[in-house]
Amino acid sequence: MMGCMKDIQNIVILTGAGISAESGVATFRGPDGLWEGHRVEDVATPEAFARDPALVQNFYDERRAKLQTVQPNAAHQALAKLDAKWPGDLLLVTQNVDDLHDRAGSKRLLHMHGELNSVWCRFCDGRSAFEGQLASTPACPRCSQAGYLRPDIVWFGEMPYQMERIEAALVQCDLFVSIGTSGAVYPAAGFVQSARYHGAQTLEMNLDPSEGSFHFHESRMGRAGDLVPGWVEGLLREVGDERV
Ligand code: APR
Repeated sequence: MMGCMKDIQNIVILTGAGISAESGVATFRGPDGLWEGHRVEDVATPEAFARDPALVQNFYDERRAKLQTVQPNAAHQALAKLDAKWPGDLLLVTQNVDDLHDRAGSKRLLHMHGELNSVWCRFCDGRSAFEGQLASTPACPRCSQAGYLRPDIVWFGEMPYQMERIEAALVQCDLFVSIGTSGAVYPAAGFVQSARYHGAQTLEMNLDPSEGSFHFHESRMGRAGDLVPGWVEGLLREVGDERV
């Protein structure tokens, strides 16, 4: 079990596809090893995009359209409540490209693998909010050039966003919590070791043990929607009314 929660000031939370599963968003590594019927390397690499841009644009267009049909669940809402009430530093780092943390109200939030609702123009290098379809090759909202937009998603072989800020938060944190991620993809899978090396307590909440489960001080197995609200309430209760 973990040490005293009253010592906790700074928290880093990492989330993965598992936190959105109960909202109806497919995880990446299902039992069939496929992501919505596709091998990851056929849709989530720069090489796949160069080879068959229409397939990749259609794939992400479908994922983006699906966002309109799903809602944040109890786990997203609990993390937004923690963000609103926590007096110390808090950083929610999500690997998810959905907008469910945003819609639940989390503010201290960073999308390290990009966002479905953002596009990146390879002509002007600008990024823009976007909710439409890229398969119809729309013009860039910034520079008006058509045919240069790609999903603002970090694909395999590309550098995740804001790594310096994340590393700085991991060094400073007293508690690192990982929720709903298989721990199969680096650098996110290594965050637990960084945080622990710098003295943080570490907690995992996942449906089943992640690949790096043994790195955590404590692992709680179950659905995020069942586990996360209780963990948030416990944390807020333990730090006491004088701080929260
Ligand atoms: N509650 C909690 N955990 C769950 C739930 C649930 N309801 N449902 C599934 N899980 C767990 C699974 O057991 C699995 O360990 O969530 C994890 C999801 O793992 P992945 O599908 O591998 O997703 P993730 O870890 O986010 O993938 C990381 O890989 O393809 C890339 O860039 C993509 O961000 C993604 C990265």
